[in-house]
Order: sequence, then C-alpha cells, then structure tokens
Amino acid sequence: MKEAGYEIAAFGGDGTGPEVVREGLKILAALAEGAPGRWHVTEYPGGGEYFLRTGREWEPEAEAAAHRADAILLGAVGWPGATLPNGDLAGRALVLGLRERLDLFANVRPCRLYPGVTHRISGEYREVWAPKNVDLVIVRENTEDLYTPVRGRLTRAGTTEVAVDTRLITQKGAERVIRYAFELARQRSRGAPEDGVRRLTCVDKSNVLEGCRFFRETFDRVGGEFPEIERDYAYVDAFTQWLVRSPEHYNVVVAPNMMGDIITDLAAVLQGGMGFASGGNIGAEHAMFEPVHGSAPKYAGKNQVNPFATFFAVEQMLRWLGDHHSDRALTLQADRLEAAIARTLAGGRVRTYDQGGQVTTSEAGDRLAAAVRAEAR
Ligand code: IPM
Ligand code: MN
Repeated sequence: MKEAGYEIAAFGGDGTGPEVVREGLKILAALAEGAPGRWHVTEYPGGGEYFLRTGREWEPEAEAAAHRADAILLGAVGWPGATLPNGDLAGRALVLGLRERLDLFANVRPCRLYPGVTHRISGEYREVWAPKNVDLVIVRENTEDLYTPVRGRLTRAGTTEVAVDTRLITQKGAERVIRYAFELARQRSRGAPEDGVRRLTCVDKSNVLEGCRFFRETFDRVGGEFPEIERDYAYVDAFTQWLVRSPEHYNVVVAPNMMGDIITDLAAVLQGGMGFASGGNIGAEHAMFEPVHGSAPKYAGKNQVNPFATFFAVEQMLRWLGDHHSDRALTLQADRLEAAIARTLAGGRVRTYDQGGQVTTSEAGDRLAAAVRAEAR
C-alpha cells in the first residue's frame, strides 16, 4: 500500500484515444468519491498528431512522468501521415517504446463476453457463443519475437533489395511470460467454462519454427512447477479455428509476441469486438493499460466509439495496483468497477454504434459513472 496515493500518468494520444481516456478518467473520478486520495491522475499530450505539430512524439517531462508513474493509462497512437524519419510509426515511443524501456514483458488481454453484449461473429446467434462460454485470458509476450528492434533494409544505389526482421525468442523472455501465465492460471478463480479445469494453452508453431520449439520446451519446463495446471498445446493455425469453434475450452493462453498480437484481435470478436478489448502491459515494476482498438482516426471527435475497452483497462489497472502493492482497497475498487460494468451492460441497454445502438461515448461514461456511484451505496 502506498500512503501518499498512486500516481497515474494518462495519455490520450491520437484519434479517438483522448475521447475514451476522458471517459476512463470520469470513471476513476466516480470511484474516487468513495476513496479520496487513493490516486492522482495527470494527463499528458503525445502521439503521432502531436509529432506532426511539434516535431516531437512527446515532451521529456511526459516521458519522465511515464517512467515515474505507478501506472500508465494510454488511449491509442497512430495518425495518418505521421511517420518518424526512419519510417516508424510516430507515437511508437508511447506504446512500443514504453514496452521496451519499462520492460513490460507480459501483455495480458482478457476476453470475456458479458451478458447484454453481442459477439461479432456474422450470422445467427448461437448458444456456443453465449456469455458463459467466453471467459479466457490471452497472455502475449511483449518485448521480443518479431518486435525485436533488430531489423533493417539493404539499400544499394537507392533501391531496397532486402528487408529483414529478426525473430528472437530468448530464454529470459519466454520463461518470464510463461511463468506469469502459469501463475495467472493458478490465481484465477475460474477454470475453463467447458469443464472448470485450470488450463494453460501454449500457442505456437513448434512444428516448424525453432524459436517456437524453444518456447514450448520452456513451457514444459516451467509447467513442471505447476502440477495443478493442465498443460494444453495448439499450433497457431489450428488454434484460430478452435478458438472460434470452442471458446469454452480455453482458460489462460500464452503465446509469443506476433502470434499473440494476431490471436488477440481474433479473440476480441468473441467478446463483442475491439470496443471491449483491453490489455495490460505488465513488467516487474511498471505497468501500462490500454484499450486495444487503436486510434480509429475516421471516428475521431465524433463522440461515437465504444469506451468499454477503456473501462476494462481501468479495471485491469486498479486490479494490478491492488495486487502489486498488496492493497486490498484497490482490489475492492476493481471489483466494484467490474460489477458496475456488468450491470451497465446487462440487458443490452447501453449499446454504442458498434453494438447496433445509439449511445454515445460520453453517455456510456455517464451511465457507468452512475452505476459506480450506485454500487457504492
Ligand atoms: C497492439 C497493437 C500494437 C502492436 C501496434 C499499435 C504497434 O496492434 O497493441 O496489439 O502491434 O502491438
Ligand atoms: Mn494488435
């Protein structure tokens, strides 16, 4: 527990990022009415649009605040035409940069379909996708694999002849994320919806790739320390069909970075779409929480996008702070927020455009803030 309260650095970033973060902060403020002084939020600008305007992705002061903060809340980065001189995404400092510099090695992406939310698979609603069947967490390695900044081009006389990305799987990188996933499977109160079994699925391509063979070997070695967790295996290609066909089989899933990036977007379809998908970038001492949907420039400023992904990111942030500092008060706030979210979504009364409804971004925030206050009584 931290007597002085927790420092939260908030970055709206680009596009719809600031709109959803504003709603997230509204919810934090509503929660704080019952727990004054538990946290202080400071907002900072930054991202691709900021880069186009100022020539900098963010100010040194904002970067220092991110490094100092107890937790970071990030909206999204990415703006049309905003690229760094080397061709990288302008704003990457806030996402990939922080993942690297703060060593946020586990990207934890819960995938749960709440009653009242419609999954986004085309066609008839089927019982197999009923809320009770979708309740998993995907843990994605977050610092290496194809994201290792060991890449480049061979350009001769102005012509690119070769472009290379290096896929690195290290023992340290694989082991710590796999251990994190086993521990999560141990802590989670629920097993897989199908049978209640505490299961950890290793997703890889170890029938072909050496790095994946190493990842799976590491999975088995670390798994030896967790005899109570069932070890389960899937090649990533087969996993994509199994996940959609039988989501109820999955409890916790662990995957290398690039495959994890892809399968978490796929999984989001089961939980109602990207509008509900949040991620926690977790390190040993630092953590950053974000909605996974990105900046969606075409919806920017329209007060239209779904802010629930950000609400789940806030819930993850409070839960992590509670765990990390053994602060029961924060864990209770996370529980309270989750209960309020579930009540707000139930019955499909609060639906934004992506769910076929007309509720605006700020109205969704108002409705949840009211539910949070009601939860306190
Ligand atoms: C994500 C995003 C990022 C990634 C992008 C914005 C760099 O897709 O968080 O999943 O590739 O990791
Ligand atoms: Mn992604």
